[in-house]
Amino acid sequence: MREQWGFSIAGEVVFGSNAVLRLGEKIKKNNFDSALVFTDPGVSQAGLLERALGSLQSSNIKYEIFEHGQPEPSIEIVNEAYSWSKEKKHDVLIGLGGGSVIDLAKALSVMLSFGGPIDQYFGEGKLPGNPKPIIAIPTTSGTGSSVSPASVLTDSKANLKKGISDNRLRPSLALVDPLLTVSCPPFLTACTGIDVLAHAIEAYTAISFQYLALGQEEEKTALYHGSNPMGDTLAQQAIRLVGNNLRLAVNQGLNIEARTNMALANILAGMAFSNAGVTAVHAMAYPLGAYSHAPHGLVNGLLLPHVLEYNLPVCAPQLARTARWLGENINGLSEREAAFKTINSIQQLIQDIGLPSKMRDIGIKEESIRPMAEATLGVTRLLRSNPRKMTADDLEAVFRQAY
Ligand SMILES: [Fe+2]
Repeated sequence: MREQWGFSIAGEVVFGSNAVLRLGEKIKKNNFDSALVFTDPGVSQAGLLERALGSLQSSNIKYEIFEHGQPEPSIEIVNEAYSWSKEKKHDVLIGLGGGSVIDLAKALSVMLSFGGPIDQYFGEGKLPGNPKPIIAIPTTSGTGSSVSPASVLTDSKANLKKGISDNRLRPSLALVDPLLTVSCPPFLTACTGIDVLAHAIEAYTAISFQYLALGQEEEKTALYHGSNPMGDTLAQQAIRLVGNNLRLAVNQGLNIEARTNMALANILAGMAFSNAGVTAVHAMAYPLGAYSHAPHGLVNGLLLPHVLEYNLPVCAPQLARTARWLGENINGLSEREAAFKTINSIQQLIQDIGLPSKMRDIGIKEESIRPMAEATLGVTRLLRSNPRKMTADDLEAVFRQAY
């Protein structure tokens, strides 16, 4: 049995409306005077770049902008950004956008600090030292990348997601400004918001840190330590916030209170899962995302109720509590009945925010189920945190439930 758990977070978080206006001041305070800004066309078209650039200008920070970020960034775009940036002067890298843009800035921080090719850093704890500082400014409430140690990239040749995970890759500063999320469209708000719920519930229902099976080598490098008291506390609050605010954020984009609460839920869940780990939901989402090309959050939301039903025999107490946090009335119910309320509540939420709930609705063919189940077995880093063991047959059965 393991005796300790650890907890790491981003260097500093500044949270609240207009936090982005502190950007220049924060860079200056560290005696830096040049920045590379990574963003994408959607962010600049939405007019979100100007406020950050205005803050850099008023603090006399020199900057250059790479505006070609893309969803689920490919290794090719990382290489393109590296060729663009390697001769430029920079003290700090800024990722202004959704999780994909922040992940791109993280990958560039690795390349500009230690050189390419990027493949040598895939895995856990592979960085040779501290990379250049990263400032994350999220414009969606989703991936938790603004506080997490991971950069997830797409190997488009192998049709696979690959990640660099290292605690030294956590942003040194996250400027979380909910006003930047107000223009996020309903579908993207729904996809990213349901991912936040998956992060929080997976962190909370992950196998306890005491019983996580890690080999001697993995013990030294693993970032995910299983559920732990600090992660549980953060996850609980994130679940409450999503339950009370996601429908409003999707259906009333201008509702600042709902946007603020979702932005908070995102970083709380991000801190929880990036220490406790995510489970079979995110593991199964790797092949399901690759086969369907559907957004990351959408596939996690689709799988979440089915994985929880599989896990229910070993985490009914956690799921019963979750039902209450999601606003369900569980008075007079048995623990098992209350746990099922969580599953029903998530299915209702998915329906209310307009996301699909079946794999057949996102273009998956039945014959892909077995290969996806087998591919999931390879995602051991996430699967080992699942509270109930899963064989290829178990994974196939859960995929069938979701079909
Ligand atoms: Fe996620």
